[in-house]
Amino acid sequence: MVVLGIESTAHTASVGLVDSTARVLGIASDMYRPPAGGIHPREAANHHVEVFPGLVEKALASSGVRPGEIEAVAFSQGPGLGPCLRAGATVARMLSMAWQRPLVPVNHCVAHVEIARVLSGMEDPLLLYASGGNTQVIAYGRGRYRVLGETLDIGIGNFLDKLWIELGGTFPGGPQLEAEAKLGSELLPLPYSVHGMDVAFSGMLTAALALAGRGSSRPDLSYSVEVTAYSMLTEITERALAHRRGEAVVLGGGVACNERLRGMVKAMVEGRGGRTFAPPRNLCVDNGAMIAWTGWLALGAGQTVSVEGSGVEPRQRTDLVATPWRGS
Ligand code: ATP
Ligand code: FE2
Repeated sequence: MVVLGIESTAHTASVGLVDSTARVLGIASDMYRPPAGGIHPREAANHHVEVFPGLVEKALASSGVRPGEIEAVAFSQGPGLGPCLRAGATVARMLSMAWQRPLVPVNHCVAHVEIARVLSGMEDPLLLYASGGNTQVIAYGRGRYRVLGETLDIGIGNFLDKLWIELGGTFPGGPQLEAEAKLGSELLPLPYSVHGMDVAFSGMLTAALALAGRGSSRPDLSYSVEVTAYSMLTEITERALAHRRGEAVVLGGGVACNERLRGMVKAMVEGRGGRTFAPPRNLCVDNGAMIAWTGWLALGAGQTVSVEGSGVEPRQRTDLVATPWRGS
């Protein structure tokens, strides 16, 4: 049997099909790319409404899964942009009613964590979740995922995207900045903002733009921003690891696609005698398969909702959702 997962928290509309052993049978995604500047929530939601019917068809056709094999329909309940979340939830409700299958609400952040955890084969790793809107170091404890450290202002991906757009580029900035950083060599001074296990990026954004205004090259700026920001993430991950006396770290979220970040975290963890894992890129970025897999876990724990009770939660936090499948 198969769970179908619907993802629509921000820029990406995606449908994923996953079986009960976490085998990904199909993913169909379409990303909203604003012609200029950042994401406009209503325009992104309109994009999602347009593409979802085709994505559902494509995911089913490419995987050969028939609607009769669908056990449940899972959807991203939050956190995310309200209009985008509502577009995905509406599609999920319609499929659930049409196929008469249970509806399973899933927290988007927990889904990034769970897909990385199951693919890693690690039982209880520390998690570095680095994405557009979120930057968190997470560990499981007593019924919930606990946030040990996080960004005090903007998410790392939003920071990279904003900087790249200000430097004349287009969304999403992270991957393009990664390519540009490979051409840089001079490490420019930027604010290194670590507070215990938390980080902050807005000071670095201001400083990087000031350097750009004074003529620093885009390759050197990209290189310096990557080295500084990813060192900050590696430091808070190491601090959390030392406190937990753990040795396994899993990376998740779109920014975990980044080779430099993967390499820095790996070097730190291996230096302490531990192991790291990062999912393949298509499962690091927003995707329906991570929602479907977490849907399986939630379904097994009886976490279904009625259509009336399936409202979206734009501000739902990682540490406020119960994860009974992990134990109590
Ligand atoms: P969330 O809702 O989980 O906070 P999100 O919805 O913004 O995240 P994700 O797909 O998880 O989406 O992450 C997207 C972010 O990842 C974007 O900010 C993008 O620039 C960044 N990103 C993608 N690839 C890379 C890369 N190779 N290097 C750095 N950043 C990257
Ligand atoms: Fe995400």
